[in-house]
Amino acid sequence: MTTYETISVEPITPRIGAMISGIDLAQPLGNQQFQEVHDALMRHEVIFFRDQEMTLDQHKEFGRRFGELDIHPGSPGPEGHPEVLVIHADEKSKFVAGGLWHSDVSCLEEPPMGSILHLHTIPTCGGDTLFASAGAAYDALSEPMKGFLATLTAIHSGEKLYRGRYKHQGVDDAGKVYPEARHPIVRTHPVSGRKSLFVNQGFTLRIPELEKSESAAVLKFLTDHITQPQFQVRFKWEKNSVAFWDNRAVQHYAMWDYFPEVRSGFRVTVKGTRPV
Ligand code: SIN
Repeated sequence: MTTYETISVEPITPRIGAMISGIDLAQPLGNQQFQEVHDALMRHEVIFFRDQEMTLDQHKEFGRRFGELDIHPGSPGPEGHPEVLVIHADEKSKFVAGGLWHSDVSCLEEPPMGSILHLHTIPTCGGDTLFASAGAAYDALSEPMKGFLATLTAIHSGEKLYRGRYKHQGVDDAGKVYPEARHPIVRTHPVSGRKSLFVNQGFTLRIPELEKSESAAVLKFLTDHITQPQFQVRFKWEKNSVAFWDNRAVQHYAMWDYFPEVRSGFRVTVKGTRPV
């Protein structure tokens, strides 16, 4: 059991999610504080903070404590901040970022380790984010199923999700090639050593080792399985809340139930390593 000296950590469910307090993310983190936030993220897979005022530079500095920042392959960042992803929906929106179960940018050869989302504008109610533990979902499978899945890989496609998606931000992606990657379906977390399921509705196209109909059936089974409520935590945002999730361990879903209200903020994404 981890003990924390510089922060308070309140688990939200026994499996996934914790609220962290006693920290100002706009200030540089000392080594002990960094280690404790990192430990809490590893243990709880997604961690939440309230009442954090951060500039884009402070947000990026916090992210850089955990690794180099990724630049999104489709969406341009705000002027001078290519590492920042704008998360915004209003009365003109036709879709929202993350409005289906996914692990961020899993189409990269080296998908992100984590993402840090800060919302400065929230709707009157709604706009929650749901997170599911892909490790808890793996643990719940039978041994024969785990053995079968261990022999398989899956193709994750940026094309599937990103083509034409950022037109409203002035992006013309004609001729652009979006990333595609083949990853094991069962991955081992590089820090905890825990196994988890690494396929998602957003990016995963097919399982190349199987026939087309078999691939579709197995992917449907897996995505339905991972997104069951017993593996989930649901986060209710307040102005200036922050969510920091471990993309190697969880999937998430942004609930768009607040149209035509505005929900807005910024995300930084920390680079990861090739899933094994
Ligand atoms: C995302 O997928 O990064 C968006 C999550 C959210 O808006 O809650």
